[in-house]
Amino acid sequence: MLPAIPFTLQCSRCKRSHPSTQLQRVCDDCGRPLLVRFALDHATGTRVRERLDSHPRSLWRFRDLLPIGPSTVIYSLGEGATPLISADRLAARLGLSKLWIKDESQNPTGSFKARGMSVAITKAVELGARRFCLPSAGNAAGAAAAYAALAGCALRAHMPDDSGDGFFDECRAYGAEVVPVRGTIADCARRLKEECDPSVWFDLSTLREPYRLEGKKTLGYELWEDFGGDGALPDAIVYPTGGGTGLIGMWKAFAEMQELGWIGPQRPRMMCVQAEGCAPIVRAFTSGAETATPIEKPQTAALGLRVPAAIGDLLMLRALRESGGAALTVTEAEWGEGQTWLASDVGLFASPEGGAASYAVKKALEAGVINTADSVVVFNTGSGFKYSRSTWPKPQL
Ligand SMILES: Cc1ncc(COP(=O)(O)O)c(C=O)c1O
Repeated sequence: MLPAIPFTLQCSRCKRSHPSTQLQRVCDDCGRPLLVRFALDHATGTRVRERLDSHPRSLWRFRDLLPIGPSTVIYSLGEGATPLISADRLAARLGLSKLWIKDESQNPTGSFKARGMSVAITKAVELGARRFCLPSAGNAAGAAAAYAALAGCALRAHMPDDSGDGFFDECRAYGAEVVPVRGTIADCARRLKEECDPSVWFDLSTLREPYRLEGKKTLGYELWEDFGGDGALPDAIVYPTGGGTGLIGMWKAFAEMQELGWIGPQRPRMMCVQAEGCAPIVRAFTSGAETATPIEKPQTAALGLRVPAAIGDLLMLRALRESGGAALTVTEAEWGEGQTWLASDVGLFASPEGGAASYAVKKALEAGVINTADSVVVFNTGSGFKYSRSTWPKPQL
């Protein structure tokens, strides 16, 4: 039995340490996200690798690299271990030699949000939380509601009132309280602050607690295994970005894997994709800014991308720049077209966000930030089933 790997909680900006033995939110000093920091080395890497097969075939395969105590009750619905689908016809359409879709729609509750919620709720219950709240465009609320139900806990979710009916139905089915809010996820966050006493409700908002990110980082570990587990990774990763946990989580995983001796210094180029009507990170990246300026009137029906301000802006921009990556926007029509490609060329009924990432590959090729010889992984972060029908192009009468 491998002893649990020691870890600390460290502020991503001012580096102040926070105790990991109690529930934590953001840095007490500067309000920025806290990150889990493990003490890792090559010997630990060898031991962890030898034990991978002793764990379930889910993200908990990487349990030794998750900050969860050895006797903690794990709340799992089998999240992670999603397929990396070779998208040869889509690659041919785009003129790429090799393209894969990491299909996160095959997670419990139909999106990559399940990864973060399984780990965050497991950890928060370990530390004594029983009542959770969050603002969400839809997918995170569905996932949180499912894992809260599994753990026998309460969930209150504030959701934009124009989120698809599927998201509302699902949350209510799990027994969650859903509060519709006129506006975006930022308006939901404001209402949550007014209505959820933090001494009663533990806030699961993106990067406002340190453990959802740990679930998301398993995306990076899985890619390493998908590519053979011998240190190879794709040349470029194309990711639809709102709050940024997927992007930041993978970047963290790559750093950890290098410390473990599983990969060398080479990294995939990280490509962030946002909607033209809400692109704070693309704007900041393009202008060379260290942080992003909030978008005043965000507009996109790709609801997971309708995030006008993100607390993880600094971390996202750092990952994009350190990786030699890029930041791209797509229009509403373009992500719709990307969805259609995923359906007709790959057989995936994808979320608008997955459609956005797929179409962005075309734009990245045109901009010269992806080359035709590159190996590229696009993330379909969720399924299209729960979105309102109005986000789909209408057939002609
Ligand atoms: C399907 C989907 N893709 C992408 C995103 C954006 O993810 P992140 O906030 O990790 O950038 C979301 C967020 O709601 C989403 O639901």
